[in-house]
Parts: sequence; structure tokens; C-alpha cells
Amino acid sequence: MCGIVGYISKGNDERSVNIGIEALKRLEYRGYDSAGLAFWDRSGGIICQKAVGRISNLENKIGQNGFSPADPVILHTRWATHGNVCEANAHPHSDCTRDIFVAHNGIIENYPALKEQLIGEGHVFSSGTDTEVIAHLIEKCFEGNLEEAVRKSLGCLVGTYGLAVISGRDPNKIVAARLSSPLLVGLAEDYFLLASDPSAVIAHTRKVVYLDDGEIAVIGRSNFTIIREKKAEEIEWADGQHEKEGFPHYMLKEVMEQPESIEQTLKGRLIPEAGNAKLGGLDSVEQRLRQIDKVYIVGCGTARHAGLLGEYMFEEYAGISTRTDAASEFRYRKTLLDKNTALLAISQSGETADTLAAIRDARSRGALTMGITNVVGSTQARETDAGVYTRCGPEIGVASTKAFTSQVAALALFTLFLGRQRQMPLETGRRIVRELLRMPEMVEQTLQCDRQIKELAEKYRGFENFFYLGRKYNYPIAREGALKIKEIAYVHSEGSWGGELKHGELALISEDFPSICIVPKDSVYEKMVSNIEEIKARGGPVIAVTSEGNQEIESLADDVVYIPDTIEFLTPILSVIPLQLFAYHFAVLCGCDIDKPRNLAKSVTVE
Ligand code: AGP
Ligand code: GLU
Repeated sequence: MCGIVGYISKGNDERSVNIGIEALKRLEYRGYDSAGLAFWDRSGGIICQKAVGRISNLENKIGQNGFSPADPVILHTRWATHGNVCEANAHPHSDCTRDIFVAHNGIIENYPALKEQLIGEGHVFSSGTDTEVIAHLIEKCFEGNLEEAVRKSLGCLVGTYGLAVISGRDPNKIVAARLSSPLLVGLAEDYFLLASDPSAVIAHTRKVVYLDDGEIAVIGRSNFTIIREKKAEEIEWADGQHEKEGFPHYMLKEVMEQPESIEQTLKGRLIPEAGNAKLGGLDSVEQRLRQIDKVYIVGCGTARHAGLLGEYMFEEYAGISTRTDAASEFRYRKTLLDKNTALLAISQSGETADTLAAIRDARSRGALTMGITNVVGSTQARETDAGVYTRCGPEIGVASTKAFTSQVAALALFTLFLGRQRQMPLETGRRIVRELLRMPEMVEQTLQCDRQIKELAEKYRGFENFFYLGRKYNYPIAREGALKIKEIAYVHSEGSWGGELKHGELALISEDFPSICIVPKDSVYEKMVSNIEEIKARGGPVIAVTSEGNQEIESLADDVVYIPDTIEFLTPILSVIPLQLFAYHFAVLCGCDIDKPRNLAKSVTVE
């Protein structure tokens, strides 16, 4: 969701706008509705340009105007929260003198009162956004030094922000500030790149400094200062991982990458003889984890579905009472937490606002906070007591796929670790390790269903509703399958427990309402077969996802997709794959924008 880029070099660089635009394009995957930039022009002032829609519209506009760009430059992709989508509301926003420009990610909650006050003092507003108050506040506080004016203005704001500010009156710097909205500074040889996401700087440098909440960075031409002295960290991702590598869409590339991404999640973390997992990120809390008697798992969307699996896993194998909640609910309900409770937050980006709020709430109430995330240095990684990285490489497609299977693999590692600390027998641990070691190969084998799934998408193309049904470990997969097709193909779907069918949902079944039943040969297999019988008795078409070699299901279901056989609690890593592919091919046939589905953003950094 929304992105910020800033560029400033040692000398006035005529490539500034091109470099900035290229970096901004690396953030396109996050979702946005308009874009804009403000740059120092050789003519001796700041030029601001904006366009609704794609960054290419902005590029065309700049190209036609014959500017002579230099730096600094700040750029923004907006995902509207306050004020409709139009050119006037795109960022950067400026003050009355059009000399101070602000790009902002986040929400200013007290903007109505500030706006009223500023208007009363004579300021003239030209947008309907919350952001514009920041530009006018800086104008009001400006006494010759931009960072000082920014610092004073921040004191008036309630809400969240990642900010980039430039001014023609103090032109050799970018001032950046952060509160609950990520920002980092990339340190290249002759220039600095400010960004809200490491993807934007990776092609330039791997040396970055992440800003912490409450910090202001003053980025000059040859040095930058920050309130606290900080060590540069290395970004682990390689640049090439951001390319589509011949795939038509990032989503398909990421689905196909799952054998490697899962391997990365597991690499060096399994101890076959001890039937255990070695998780360096949990070392510091190992003793405390022994005292934990309750776990709350929180996450949003797909990450929450991974969490639902964690609930089944922890209770069955570690004997710890576990509950999974949507982070957006957790933060507002009365949860009973104490020092023997652990909160486990799951997030691909590590920047989801609701998930971060849940972490802060749990922490303030004395609970141990842990995380599973993909992005090294993300806010979640820095604000939790301990955690595990999924290491699955950048996920660009808005629909989360490889991040999900890696989250489930990480949860399996957590399960081993917690289980072996408690009641899990050595032999069970060893068996789980053996199966996890086979997982990349089994995922590879599962991906071979791609062609069959494409044919199924063609066969079922005309349908407008789908049920996804599963039980126990495959109930969360039913939810996840339904979410995938909803978000990228805009098709109505419901994910439910097989056992709930006859309590109401069965009324929807007809020959126009197909069901995708996840029915591996596990402890609830017979129960799921009965559900399929119920659906067939009412004329509903059924696609079954089952374990290889289970041919009896062919006489019952209309179509059957096979996945390799493994222990029950690991089947979700395999069974979700045909559902990811089904959503993908279905959406392609519908002509949808696969990697940037309408109304959605990759990382939801506002509540
Ligand atoms: C997944 O396909 C979705 N786009 C969405 O549900 C996502 O999983 C959710 O917003 C959480 O994001 P996070 O993992 O970065 O916290
Ligand atoms: N709240 C701001 C707006 O609506 C910023 C949104 C964003 O983060 O892109 O303009």
C-alpha cells in the first residue's frame, strides 16, 4: 500500500527523476491509485507533477513538459484513505507558497481540527487529503531550517506517518520521519535513496539504515544524520528475485517457486537425530517459552489462515492451548493475557498495521511477543521479542502464495520446537523432520497438476459461485482457497468446515454451485466423504483434492486432483497448491489484473 521514494546525490544529478521513477516502479506491486513527484529543477525551483492511475501516466506527463531535473526529488504512490482519487489529492502536497512538498504514507487522525485551525490562520488548502495539513504546518513552523520545522510540526500530529519532505528554501536535503509506517535510507556510493520498502533500493545498494518510530532523518548531499546513531544492515534478497523471469505474472512465478522457497524456510533448521528444530531466533526466549501455557496467534488475511493451522498444530503436538484471531479483532477485544501467554504474529510484510497494533497491545500487557515474517528488518521483526524469518524472498503478487506455504513450514518448525520442549515423543519429532525434508520434492510433484488445473479452470469458467470445504487441517485451506479466487478473479466463494454444511450452507448447493472439497486420506477422511455424498445428492458438482492413489473418490467426485501423501498436519502445504493455481488460471481466463487486483494493496499499513 502506497510508497515513498526520495533521491539526493552529491552533485545535482540530471538522472534524478529517472532513477526515482524506476525505484518507484519497484513499489507498484504494493497497490496504488495515483502517483506524483516533486523535484528541484535547474531553472531554480521545485516542480511538482501528478497523475491518476499508473506511474507510466506520470512519466508521460513529465516527458512532455521539457523539464531540466536535478535533485533532491521525492516521489509517491498513493492509496487513498482520505479524499477521493484525483490529481489534486495525489502526493506530494504543498504549502500555500508552493515551496514545501510532502509525500506521506499513513493517516493523520486529527487533521479536521488542524485544518480548521490552519484555515482560520489564513492557509489555503487545495486538496481533500489529511496529508496537506502537514505541508501547511511545516510552512507555519519554518524559520530557515527544514528539519527543525518538520520536528515542530510532528508534535501536532496524531496518527501514523512515513514522510519525505523537501523545500526550495532549504534545498540541499530531504527530511524524512517515521511513525508506524516504514522508511529506510539506502546508502549508495554517490547518493542516498530514501524508500518505504527495500524493493525500491535493492538495485542500487544493499546497505540500508531503517528508521525507527519517532526518528527524523536529515539526508544531505554527502551525509545524513539521524537522531540515534545506527548500524547499517544488509538486505538479504538478491536483485533478480524482483523480476518475473519469463513468467507472465509474479503470482505464477511465486507459486512455481514454492519448492525453493520452502527449502529456504527449512534450511539448516532441522535436526534429524534429535527430531527437533533449531531456531536461532528463539534462542533468547527458550527458557521463557517453557513456561508458556497459552498462545494467541494473530495475522490478517492469508497470514491469519496460516495462523489457524498453527492453532491445530500447537494444540495437537505441543499441548498448548492456542487461539487464532484476526489482528483487527484481537486489538479491540478483551483478551486474557499474562506473562505465561505468548503472542505469535504472522505477517509476510511485517508492516501490517493491525498486526503491529496487536503486538504492541500484547507487549504492554506483559505477554511474550514472537513473530513469523518474511521481511528482514521490518517493524514486526524489530518490535517482537523473538521470531523466525520465512526467508522466501520478495513476494510481489498481491495474492500471497509462497509466503503462505513458508509460514506454514515455519509453524511446523515452531511446533517441533515447542512440542519437543514438552510432550512430543522423539519418534514423532523424527518422523516430522523426515517429512519436512521431503517437502520441497513433494511440492515440486504437486505443481505438476498445473496443466490439469488449467483445464479445470476452463471447464468451470462459467460458474459464479464456489464452495471450498475442508475439515481439521484442511479447513484453513478451504478458507485460503476461497480467498484466493475472491481476490484475484472477483468470484464469490465461501470457505467452510465440511461439518457445517448441513447446518445451513447446504441450502446453497445446486448444479450451479460447485464445491472444491479438500479430502486427503487423513483422520477426517470418512467424514469429508460423507459431505461429498451430501453435495452430490443435491446435484452439486464436486472437485476433490485427495491423496495420490486414492481412486475410490473418482466414482464420487466430478474431477479429482491428486497430491502426494504425507502426515496429516503437513498436507495443507500441498493441498493449497491446486487451489492457488485454480484461482490463477480462472482469473487469467476472466482477464483480471492478476498481480494488482482491484481495490487491494499488498501491504496494508493503515488500520
Ligand atoms: C493475501 O492474498 C492477501 N493479499 C492478504 O490477505 C494478506 O495476506 C494480508 O493483508 C496480510 O499481509 P501480511 O502478511 O503482509 O501481514
Ligand atoms: N492518508 C493519505 C491520503 O489519503 C496517504 C495515503 C497513503 O498512505 O497513500 O492521501
